[in-house]
Amino acid sequence: MTRERWSSRFIFILAAVGSAVGLGNAWRFPGQAFNNGGGAFLIPYFVALLTAGIPLLILEHAIGRRAQAGAPAALKQLHKKAEPLGWWALATSFVIVSYYAVVLGWVANYIYSSFTLAWRDRASDYFFGDVLQISDSPGNLGGFSIPVLIAVVITWLLVWLSLFNGVKTVGKVVMWTVPVPLALLIILMIRAVTLPGALVGLSYYLQPDWQALLKPDVWAAAYGQVFFSLSILFGIMIAYGSYLSKDSDLTTDGLIIALADAGISFLAGFAVFGTLGYFSNLTNTPIEEMSVQGVGLAFITYPEAISNLPGGAVSITIFGLLFFLMLFTLGLDSAFSIVEGIVAGLVDKFQWNKKKTTLGVCIAGLLGSLIFATKGGLYWLDITDHFVNDFNLIAIGIIQCFVVGWLFGAKKIRAYFNETSEIKFGRWWDIMIRYVTPIVLLYISISYLIENVQVNYGDYETRYIVIGGWAVVAATLVVGLIISIFRDRLPVADSQQASAEEEG
Ligand code: PHE
Repeated sequence: MTRERWSSRFIFILAAVGSAVGLGNAWRFPGQAFNNGGGAFLIPYFVALLTAGIPLLILEHAIGRRAQAGAPAALKQLHKKAEPLGWWALATSFVIVSYYAVVLGWVANYIYSSFTLAWRDRASDYFFGDVLQISDSPGNLGGFSIPVLIAVVITWLLVWLSLFNGVKTVGKVVMWTVPVPLALLIILMIRAVTLPGALVGLSYYLQPDWQALLKPDVWAAAYGQVFFSLSILFGIMIAYGSYLSKDSDLTTDGLIIALADAGISFLAGFAVFGTLGYFSNLTNTPIEEMSVQGVGLAFITYPEAISNLPGGAVSITIFGLLFFLMLFTLGLDSAFSIVEGIVAGLVDKFQWNKKKTTLGVCIAGLLGSLIFATKGGLYWLDITDHFVNDFNLIAIGIIQCFVVGWLFGAKKIRAYFNETSEIKFGRWWDIMIRYVTPIVLLYISISYLIENVQVNYGDYETRYIVIGGWAVVAATLVVGLIISIFRDRLPVADSQQASAEEEG
């Protein structure tokens, strides 16, 4: 069986950009910059991009291409004991996609309600009441929120359709899901920066606070943002690399993908802070008092700001639609890239039929989403996101650097990708993978553990943190280990082994 291929180099770049560019660019980056030194944040951000983001992105494409297989098999080829790491990454990404799809479901509700302007001037009530129908505590699931449930089913349907015919369909879908949100973002940005008061917002966003560069947490935030934004350490980029042919240029493409992702994050800040500046001016509310990141930004502050745009209902409808369609299309290709990473791992290992596996993973993902579609779902989403995303990501990063940099040899991988690439990387790359990235990650993980042991995240009761956080972390680890124990039916590379198998 020959491996699927991207139909062109351009499509591969689009698909990787599609995975990387997501909610992380639109709602995470601007807020991170704002909280961590404004314009000065660009320095740690670019340092993190150069020292960890780009080296790891290229590493993942390289090991995927080398193995022509998804994360578990690719890692196993580097070291025979490394397969569980790949499954751990995929189990983690399964958890993430199950709530990422729910967030897209919320976005879908806002798209729908843009036609009736149900969120106009009452975004907070609309969000917590109409959409989430939120319960009083994580312990009270309170049944499903029907609007969320319906939207989540539709989202999963779209994810499944985008992957229906494997890499071929992905190639067609990303021709839309990459340029469309980018165009929408540019329109939103132009509108934002031409609003009265926009400059005030932009100066919040960009005014450098150089003191911030002395704080280790600011650096940790920059590294965390880069990892999340590039979709690395989730097994996705390994799978995407495995559909490349052996002569592809890895370094140039990696640089293009990483810089496109960073550029789009930077642009998004103009759209967000230009609008917030206008809103702040209009309502005399300082920006410090607004939610500038995540759920609060996308579902409350931003819709409130749009509700007050000049031009009345028509303009509010249009800009509301543009914004939520942008979020949805940004997120959709990130969501299906996660599923593709999982499917690639399973199909490689068990030689299952790819179409059936895709359907199976989508159904399992939908079932996983159900808990987050309940009335208590937001709480669980918040807890799980905090623990699984941050903790697993860091731990996987450290181990992956160890496997590649020390057990297998950074130098060998570098020679491998340099060979077919126009831009050759020097020894600095080995130093990043062997020392810089793992040390930074170790620092982040220690301060993370200290922080989380000292105070309960988000003031949730300990039992909820244990169930939604640590137990899920443990579950991903256990699932990862269990799947690795199964005997693989990996395509056998050499004929000796093949005949041995036939006899056995
Ligand atoms: N990179 C995506 C974003 O910026 C998020 C993501 C993380 C997607 C991990 C897939 C895997 O939103």
